[in-house]
Amino acid sequence: MISLAYDWRDPALPIGALDSGLGGLSVLREVRMALPREDLLFACDCGKAPWGDRSQGWIVERVRKIAAFLVSKRVKAITVACNTATAAAIEVLRSELPFPIIGIEPAVKPAARLTRNGTIGILATTGTISSPRLQGLIDRYGKGCNVLRMACPGLMNRVEAGDFHSPETREVLHQFIDPLIREGADTLVLGCTHYPFLASEIRQIAGSAVTVIDPSRAVAHFLVERLEEEGLIRGIRGEEPVERFWCTGETVQKTTVLRHLWNDRAEMESLDEAWPSLSAQA
Ligand code: DGL
Repeated sequence: MISLAYDWRDPALPIGALDSGLGGLSVLREVRMALPREDLLFACDCGKAPWGDRSQGWIVERVRKIAAFLVSKRVKAITVACNTATAAAIEVLRSELPFPIIGIEPAVKPAARLTRNGTIGILATTGTISSPRLQGLIDRYGKGCNVLRMACPGLMNRVEAGDFHSPETREVLHQFIDPLIREGADTLVLGCTHYPFLASEIRQIAGSAVTVIDPSRAVAHFLVERLEEEGLIRGIRGEEPVERFWCTGETVQKTTVLRHLWNDRAEMESLDEAWPSLSAQA
């Protein structure tokens, strides 16, 4: 059990978010737009990423540890800004923590609504693609559609490296997108939070006839709804909201990419130093 020694029903407390890496910032930027007054704490695991090929048991332990770190910072809600972690660990987290836990899942339902020819492509990590949760979403919302699943090992690393537009990145994207387009997909779902940072390249490669769906804005709006239900939206305040970022592993290169993706004042702090129990896990 993650122990919680404070009253989380306080609108002045921060919102936490976690991911394996910097991809979760694609969700966090939507959270920032939707909730301009909230303090935001982001913790990610660049030192052990990618998570996409890890076992479910490993991911559950990792997510519990990072969530425990956010709890030590007294958060009032956590956004699991990672499809892989949502698929593997969200139920465990919800069973251990009393406050709102918001996850992200591949947008099968919107895709089934938007497709014109009934063929949908899902781009995600190996873990998400093979998860029972994704199968459940397809069974529930993808009826009558031809749903093509594409695991994309290596794609998140392009974002982690800050390499958004190079020929190598385009080549990796072609490798995953071309087969889906050849099979007739007219709608592509970005099923990993890293991929929205490659959205312009993805749109170019897929072509203008293909609809590309990023669910992160919908996730931010769902978070707003949950905070409203709980009376946890922060009111008017005088000072600038706090934004802090931690990652495992090295922080210098990550600060460079973070500044590119967030703003030039952002600083990556060491999660290994802040929360040593993470270094204990192999
Ligand atoms: N950003 C993550 C997701 O949404 C995971 C990427 C990875 O670690 O493989 O699935």
